[in-house]
Amino acid sequence: APSPPVTLVIFGATGDLTRRLLVPAIINLTQSGLTGEDLRILGVGIEPGDDQMLVTRLDDFLKTLDDGGAHAESDGWKSLRQRIAYTSGDFTRDEIYLDIKARLEKAPSGNAAFYLAVPPQFFGTIVEKLSEHGLTKETGGAFRRIAIEKPFGTDLASAKALNERILSKVAESQVYRLDHFLGKETVQNILTTRFANMMIEALWNNNYIDHVQITAAETVDVGSRGKFYDATGALRDMVPNHLFQLLAMIAMEAPNGFGAEAIRSEKSKALSALRIYTPDEAAEHGVRGVYTGGPLNGNPVTAFRETKDVSPDTRTETFVALKLYVDTWRWAGVPFYLRTGKAMKARDTEIVVTFRQVPFAQFRETDIKRSLPPNRLVIQVQPDEGLSVELSIKSPGLSVDTVPVSLDFRYADKFDIGKMTGYESLLYDLFIGDQTLFQRADGIEAGWAAVQPFLDLWGKSDEQPEPYLPGSMGPTCADELIARDGRQWHELGVILHNQKS
Ligand code: BG6
Repeated sequence: APSPPVTLVIFGATGDLTRRLLVPAIINLTQSGLTGEDLRILGVGIEPGDDQMLVTRLDDFLKTLDDGGAHAESDGWKSLRQRIAYTSGDFTRDEIYLDIKARLEKAPSGNAAFYLAVPPQFFGTIVEKLSEHGLTKETGGAFRRIAIEKPFGTDLASAKALNERILSKVAESQVYRLDHFLGKETVQNILTTRFANMMIEALWNNNYIDHVQITAAETVDVGSRGKFYDATGALRDMVPNHLFQLLAMIAMEAPNGFGAEAIRSEKSKALSALRIYTPDEAAEHGVRGVYTGGPLNGNPVTAFRETKDVSPDTRTETFVALKLYVDTWRWAGVPFYLRTGKAMKARDTEIVVTFRQVPFAQFRETDIKRSLPPNRLVIQVQPDEGLSVELSIKSPGLSVDTVPVSLDFRYADKFDIGKMTGYESLLYDLFIGDQTLFQRADGIEAGWAAVQPFLDLWGKSDEQPEPYLPGSMGPTCADELIARDGRQWHELGVILHNQKS
């Protein structure tokens, strides 16, 4: 059903996120009939300009998309562009809020969603200003919601302080903290894969699972984001948010309903069961890397340290690998290995669940300890979204030998999910008031609490992260981290295993 009438007030309307993801997602929703005629966009930015300036800019950008005009020439965009307004000013001063207020009073409905696509130092201030001007007050049945992009805090203390600041002005039910990984189809599918399939969920515990690997490898380097990234690093940028969202979906208990509170409570419970390491344990369970210069897929990559706006003596990491434990009945003793990095061999976001080895096997030709590979479930989040189950079968022929094979499902073979941005479901849910795919305050804080020992350790360390070459699997310390336990990382970029050899 189409979303209710609403004015989407985007702070940061001239920014990259708005044109690259928000507007195309709204066009896709409009094309699918999921937004009503009464959806209005009010862009707010620091740059001076009028409504036409924003529309023209968006128009120009949409034309550069490599989509054969699917967005720029769509009926959705033709209709939406008539409903876009723009206002500019200083987010820390009153004028702009008075202007927004006057405009909302004239809008077809009192419903408003404020989307903060701005640098994080503005989050608290904008919420306070909106509240001071009565803009967050829900009167006469109208809703007022606030969507907040990441990064939500830079450590546990700042995340708590930000939550406190926001929740002193608005109710948790009005706050939509984004983690765009939750908009990805394959991420949402994790819960269905688990809880709609007996053969999977029945094995989903430490009796049958040996360990879990969660990877978000990227080939892109830091590029023009030096200033942001040098202050942030791979750990803060990816782990307490994106990777922990994946971990929570793997580790959580079955919710007692598919509503937002039930699901978010289970996710928060799982995250708050992450073991909080002592400084010594953190030193043992986490490693960092930084990419050097060199070629990647035929293109030169500039070393992180030489990247524009990065301090030459930076100690910021572009790769991190952690070994974590979720201390619950279900997961006792099962390590969760996480890794993420830039300028790596392949773009590959995946979850690999490795099952335990069979207790006994009498295949004449197979030395079980040496050559019977464990079963694995690989959830390929991106690219080539899909699922694989790796099994052992008898190899054809007279001997009784085993060979690993893989049952593969690829979304692209069955569905057309390619042109979605991942923001469609997030925006739609913001409009209809479903918080399932947004982070609750306690979940965010539990995530920061688990990475805080690593932040403390590395924050005061003089050591440089270990260098790795662009196009590699990361630094050798990451291989050592997992090899110590007699395990190894899943090969990056390997999806289908059944090619004839
Ligand atoms: C963002 C990070 O949140 O997620 C980026 O700031 C990262 O550094 C990006 O590249 C990865 O998202 P996706 O959807 O491309 O996997």
